[in-house]
Amino acid sequence: MDLKGKYYKAFLDRENKLRSQYSQERAKKQHKKGKLTAQERLDLLFDADTFEEIDTFVTPDNQGLEFGKVEESFGDGVITGHGKINGRLIFAYAQDFTIMGGSLGIVHARKIAKIQEMALKMGAPIIALIDSGGARIQEGIASLTGYASIFQNIIQSSGIIPQIAVIMGPAAGGAVYSPALMDFVFMVNYTSFMFVTGPNVVKEVLNEDVTLEELGGAEVHAKKSGVAHFIYDDEENTIIGLKKFLSYLPSNNVENPPVVEEEVDMQDINDKLLEIVPDDPNKAYDVIEVIENIFDRNSFFEVAELYAPNLVVGFARLNGITTGIVANQPKVLAGVLDIDSSVKGARFIRFCDSFNIPILTLEDVPGFLPGIDQEHDGIIRNGAKLLYAYSEATVPKITVILRKSYGGAYIVMNSKNLGGDFNFAWPTAEIAVMGPDAAVTILFRRELEKSDDPVKLKADLVKQYRDKVANPYIADEKGFIDEVIDPAITRKKLISAFTALSNKWVQVPSRKHGNIPL
Ligand code: HXC
Repeated sequence: MDLKGKYYKAFLDRENKLRSQYSQERAKKQHKKGKLTAQERLDLLFDADTFEEIDTFVTPDNQGLEFGKVEESFGDGVITGHGKINGRLIFAYAQDFTIMGGSLGIVHARKIAKIQEMALKMGAPIIALIDSGGARIQEGIASLTGYASIFQNIIQSSGIIPQIAVIMGPAAGGAVYSPALMDFVFMVNYTSFMFVTGPNVVKEVLNEDVTLEELGGAEVHAKKSGVAHFIYDDEENTIIGLKKFLSYLPSNNVENPPVVEEEVDMQDINDKLLEIVPDDPNKAYDVIEVIENIFDRNSFFEVAELYAPNLVVGFARLNGITTGIVANQPKVLAGVLDIDSSVKGARFIRFCDSFNIPILTLEDVPGFLPGIDQEHDGIIRNGAKLLYAYSEATVPKITVILRKSYGGAYIVMNSKNLGGDFNFAWPTAEIAVMGPDAAVTILFRRELEKSDDPVKLKADLVKQYRDKVANPYIADEKGFIDEVIDPAITRKKLISAFTALSNKWVQVPSRKHGNIPL
């Protein structure tokens, strides 16, 4: 065959036609909105010259359309393929808003489904770069079935490969449920939006005026709905953040998380840890300082920083090994557990458990948040999620009680009898059924009513309770915790404990699946 003759010409013609499709004009439109094109995003994300596109030349299905027509284009508005990110195999798809608003028609959907199935077979993470107006209206039911197969694939891959969505424009209608089903969602401030029904429908149905930003902007989803785990101010920084984040994750559920072999510049004994928790139990402090003084320097990557900040979750490295951290944050609402923090913690724990990431819990929690709103909105049902997730997780689980550990919150934060492998406490720990104030009010109600000086009596009783009950030594002596440790040696203790647990194996009872209280 003469490859320089007519066969080669036909091949080149197609290539040229493809290149002209991605015109400067289209790119300009994206840039004007502060967005990159799908191809530019992939170029930033993947190691140079490693991305291999597949299904480049598929064309949309224009058959049997009853309403409007679809734009003739190669690729049908989505680029799919695989490549290397920091040397590791990753699959990806990037929707192209310049072609029919990145809307999802049946061919577009089939391309995504194909790449999803490949990622699952190869045991490699998949990244979705989303910029889409949702189901392609012209294609009707066909595009809805396309979404259904994509959702089905995400659900089948859940817990087997990490799945990450990055919203880089609109994610409207059906486009929102892929990210919602995936493990983590990144959003770009001011240029990305997620909503099931847009401002026009809100106006029509409810006669309410709302902007795109107010309805489904990045900040709304990072702070209020909890849909977005990470937000950045522009696409470049979002991609830098995503690449760093990937370095903490294994490629699939049978791999261990990657180990960073660099020399760690950290002392095993760190006296700074003696100074962070204040002597006064009512004073706040920042638990992130504790994390930073235990884990490898600058290795903490917080997840969902803006949502339910009374519970901190994230990944850090301990001697190079990824560890999941769940920590009550005393500087926000005294670190109390409420509905949002329970759900945030539970989902994070389940991710760690799916992907063999050991979990450290740092506990300083006065209890569950009381109140009519919390009770009526379901703190019982939602608190149960955290309880369930901790108990269900079979990865190595260690708790360090830093200070308050009262009541149900003691139980839920990976207590010994809930399956904690090692449970340590600092000398500042207060472990009891409830805090001193509440205990004295209940046990000495009559005495306080009869007293001439109830304020002094209460203060005396609170002090007695604190001295006798609210300390770690009763729990230590009864074996409910494993050891009261010197805070300065926490890092050393944890390295040794996690090493001892590195081959932990738990036989789980055979069943279809448990019934987590969703
Ligand atoms: C077909 C679409 C489209 C769609 C946008 N376009 N969305 N084509 N189907 N769903 C096309 C537009 O017609 C336009 O084509 C081009 O994409 C760019 O769109 P613009 O509106 O000009 O852009 P912009 O002003 O930036 O607004 C973007 C947008 C808006 C906010 C996403 O397009 C929009 O509201 N689209 C519809 C969103 C929506 O309601 N989707 C839900 C679909 S139903 P031209 O040719 O003019 O360039 C759904 C069902 C599943 O998804 C539900 C499961 C829960």
